Amino acid sequence: MAETVSAADLQEYCQLVRSVMEARLDGRTPLAFTHTYGCQGNVSDGERINGMLAQMGFAFTDSPENADFILYNTCAVREHAEDRVFGNVGALKHVKNRNPKLIIALCGCMVQQEKVANRIYQSYPHVNLVFGTHVISRFPELLYKTLTGGKRVFELSQADNSICEELPVRRDNQVKAWLPIMYGCDNFCTYCIVPHVRGRERSRDASKILAEARDLIAAGYPDITLLGQNVNSYAVKNAVSSDGEDWNFPKLLREIDKIEGDYVLRFMTSHPKDCTEELLTAMAECQHTAHHLHLPVQCGSNRVLKAMNRHYTREQYLELARIAREKMPDISLTSDIIVGFPGETYEEFQETLSLIREVKYTSLFTFIYSVREGTPAAKLDDPVTHAEKAKWMKELLATQEAIAAERCNAMIGTRHRVLVEGVDARDDSLFCRTGTNIVVKCMGQPELVGQFAECEITSAKNWVLQGKFVSR
Ligand code: SAH
Ligand code: SF4
Ligand code: F3S
Repeated sequence: MAETVSAADLQEYCQLVRSVMEARLDGRTPLAFTHTYGCQGNVSDGERINGMLAQMGFAFTDSPENADFILYNTCAVREHAEDRVFGNVGALKHVKNRNPKLIIALCGCMVQQEKVANRIYQSYPHVNLVFGTHVISRFPELLYKTLTGGKRVFELSQADNSICEELPVRRDNQVKAWLPIMYGCDNFCTYCIVPHVRGRERSRDASKILAEARDLIAAGYPDITLLGQNVNSYAVKNAVSSDGEDWNFPKLLREIDKIEGDYVLRFMTSHPKDCTEELLTAMAECQHTAHHLHLPVQCGSNRVLKAMNRHYTREQYLELARIAREKMPDISLTSDIIVGFPGETYEEFQETLSLIREVKYTSLFTFIYSVREGTPAAKLDDPVTHAEKAKWMKELLATQEAIAAERCNAMIGTRHRVLVEGVDARDDSLFCRTGTNIVVKCMGQPELVGQFAECEITSAKNWVLQGKFVSR
């Protein structure tokens, strides 16, 4: 069955679940506990799932113990992410024993793998509902079946790759809004599970994205992030406008940027192989675009990049970084690094270190390679031990810390326009973020959250920047 569900069907199933829950709980408002793991794309899915739950009459709780419905929206990108979910789901057995009416559901990338779904079916009989990444819009229907059918529901069918535009959204955050522009991935990096669990790349209609951006800006969201596994290939795989106009990512960025308002526009993730000079020019010329480019390099050795199927060389990557800096001298570059890809030697790992020294990233997301069954890299020889890879990782972190410390010290005394994102409960200071994606902590009133302010960096302690608000 296709993923796309009409708005009328969705409404009908939401209403049906509402009635069933009312009868089941004698009129009490049902409570949902939901938790999302993984990337911002998954978080955005989670916000749509919560939107559907709200439409089905649920209120939300932070405590699984109080919930009538528990859902984990899972991630499969590394083994560690999966282990945590298995642990948490196992622990729910006791919660279910205390509350036999509780419904437990799992969705997201991890359960889209047949092997995992089978394990849940066999070993976790207290899980009532499992649904994959292609059928999110059928969640109300599947929950209705679970509540009324008297058996567990497992729905992992692959869809026709269409996009359901009708889903309600309950956003987690008043400051940062996620705006998906495309789904799936066709790049098949040899280590990565994402294309296997998220299906083929498909882009949303540009007019729908622009309408959602206008709504978010009108609602006062000051920070909007466009999401996709590879935003640079937006509109490459499918036509995205009914009037036949040609679109690409730089054009989308420019069109959103024309919407008036005080907001920062971000995007992720950019794949270096499709990151063009046209995009960097658009970034430099747009007035709302943050001067921050998350451009995952993964590693610095050409042999390993080839084995990873990344389709760029170290030299091409460095040239992109150079052009980005030429067009935006204040740009902040960040990256993802995988340490210990199968067959990577210590000498090759040193090429990653030399690359990060050359680029001088603002920050890095670093991962030790994790075997993902069903991917080509899982079949490669992997002679380096995990303990050895952990040593390399330490060396990587120390190298990056030295780069970050130098950058932090150089920033002392400089002024920046920041967005106040939230309160640090530990010391009541405010988390603020520069357009270049650097976090600065300032003392101030919590009412400032969600507003832009001017701050001066006063000190750098343990790689955390401290600042004070100053008038413009
Ligand atoms: N589409 C994005 C990345 C999505 S996954 C891109 O290509 O940039 C986020 C990060 O997880 C990847 O960039 C990679 O660094 C890491 N990752 C993915 N699969 C992994 C694996 N099997 N082991 C370790 N890290 C992995
Ligand atoms: Fe995974 Fe590569 Fe796709 Fe990123 S581009 S999601 S790393 S396959
Ligand atoms: Fe994880 Fe799926 Fe995102 S595997 S990183 S939640 S696309």
